[in-house]
Amino acid sequence: MTKACKLAAGNWKMNGLHADLDQARALAQAFPDPACGVLLCPPATLIAAMAQTVEGSAVMVGGQDCHAQASGAHTGDISAQMLADSGARHVILGHSERRADHGESSGLVAAKAAQAHAAGLVAIICVGETGAERDAGQTLGVVLGQLAASLPDGADAANTVVAYEPVWAIGTGRTPTLPQIAEVHDALRAHLPDGAISLLYGGSVKPGNAAEIFAIANVDGALVGGASLKAADFGQIISALERA
Ligand code: 13P
Repeated sequence: MTKACKLAAGNWKMNGLHADLDQARALAQAFPDPACGVLLCPPATLIAAMAQTVEGSAVMVGGQDCHAQASGAHTGDISAQMLADSGARHVILGHSERRADHGESSGLVAAKAAQAHAAGLVAIICVGETGAERDAGQTLGVVLGQLAASLPDGADAANTVVAYEPVWAIGTGRTPTLPQIAEVHDALRAHLPDGAISLLYGGSVKPGNAAEIFAIANVDGALVGGASLKAADFGQIISALERA
């Protein structure tokens, strides 16, 4: 079986102004030839400028969402093709903040992912249980259900990455135990349509815990929120993944 690619992905969420492109520039300079993929997903307002900032470097740029249709009367929305046209190579889809704040269903996520693929983007599809679902013993059922319903036809290692992000671990400083992460990643791997699809862990990944998380067998990298905003912090996480 082909081995999954390692990827350190930063999700800036609704953070970042043009002044913060310095962080992307610093990252590009610090990692001219990284031993893993390095991706930053800034807000849509910065995608084109960041793509220019890191042009010619190993750092890739991605979006945080796209619309489920190719074009049309959808005021305020952005299509997958627009992201690609701005220099994005990836797009995060189905993040729990979008599932919760915007009522996104897994079916909608699958439709968005199909658009991403049609535009030549890699879809980073997020799944994860809430704290209440974990407490109720529903973790595997929830994440495997989300996975099955969020992956579009034709998803493979070339066009899709899956991120496991327990909702209760996002922005909280709390993380699952290493066996808990391993259990979910093992289950996800077993249910992927292509075993070489990269599996990222996300939720309070920091310089201090990255190495132990990357040592887990079916963890191929991380989707990092807060700690991706500063090149110094994200750089330590990238270095940990390079060594893993
Ligand atoms: P934090 O790393 O800030 O917990 O966020 C994780 C996340 O939601 C990445 O998409």
